[in-house]
Amino acid sequence: MARKKIALVGGGQIGGIIALIAAQKELGNVLILDIPEVEGMVKGKALDIMQVRPHDGYDIKLEGTSDYSDLEGADVVIITAGVPRKPGMTREDLLGINLKIITNVANNVKKFAPDSFVIVVSNPLDAIVYSFYKVSGFPKNRVVGMAGALDNARFRTFIAMETGLSVQDVSCIVMGGHGPTMVPLTRLANVGGVPLTDLLSQDKIDAIVKRVQEAGTELVKLYGNGSAFFSPAAAIMEMAEAYLKDKKRVIPSTALCEGEYGADGYFIGVPAVIGAGGVEKVLEVNLSEEEEQMLGKTLEVVKKTVDETGL
Ligand code: APR
Repeated sequence: MARKKIALVGGGQIGGIIALIAAQKELGNVLILDIPEVEGMVKGKALDIMQVRPHDGYDIKLEGTSDYSDLEGADVVIITAGVPRKPGMTREDLLGINLKIITNVANNVKKFAPDSFVIVVSNPLDAIVYSFYKVSGFPKNRVVGMAGALDNARFRTFIAMETGLSVQDVSCIVMGGHGPTMVPLTRLANVGGVPLTDLLSQDKIDAIVKRVQEAGTELVKLYGNGSAFFSPAAAIMEMAEAYLKDKKRVIPSTALCEGEYGADGYFIGVPAVIGAGGVEKVLEVNLSEEEEQMLGKTLEVVKKTVDETGL
């Protein structure tokens, strides 16, 4: 079977870690594309990771480029192109600059990799993934944003830290936009099937929710000159792997809703089935009144940012 091809548009902090994970998991050959000014840097990353291969014994090929025509034949395209947040910035502050970048990227992906499954990561995610969808004209099942996979991993991490139990057994859902109004569904969170509400006090659960909602900002402050990159890369590759291996994983993803959860024509974070068909289905959870209200608030924020794109 021919090896799959994974193309990364944006070979910065997240792109570099994705390339390493894709190679180590032998998910496919990797192309790292960035702007001509930093072509040497992405060629360097590709060559550097090629030299990791002897230790691990895989034969994946990696290449760096600034030429969009090299996207040809890509099965998966992962877009991190853009600028990340600096301390004091919200994700929304990035809209102007990242919108211009995504428009150019979308036109090129449409031209050179029209059959690919596209995972968008650049912020503000909910508006940038919407813009890619509008500009590219891709079908909705082949465009998805990565946010919930990361927010969920953060929720799982903090639950495991607070309970002292294995992160492997923590299961939960985070819905809504990628920002402080996201909705971690504490009612459904559990550790090995035991409800979180039976394991921790409401105060502790509330503190975890707040930390999840601010987890990206906590890291922006700590890093000082950029945003998280290890955990986003791992979350992206979980989604890419589910697609490439047709796993039918249920992963919180930023998917186009057409009536689900009261959202019509917007991308929001929802539990989605990811398999060979891309986003194969949006699963609908019965929400409590309070959860519905929280989701309504997050939808307002998403709509406002999407409207600012003018698309
Ligand atoms: N085409 C291709 N690559 C581009 C373009 C473009 N038009 N414009 C910028 N880039 C590249 C930059 O040169 C840089 O190498 O995108 C890369 C972004 O990398 P970083 O600045 O290191 O940012 P990173 O931490 O990887 O985050 C990328 O993901 O989480 C979001 O908010 C974050 O929007 C940001 C994105």
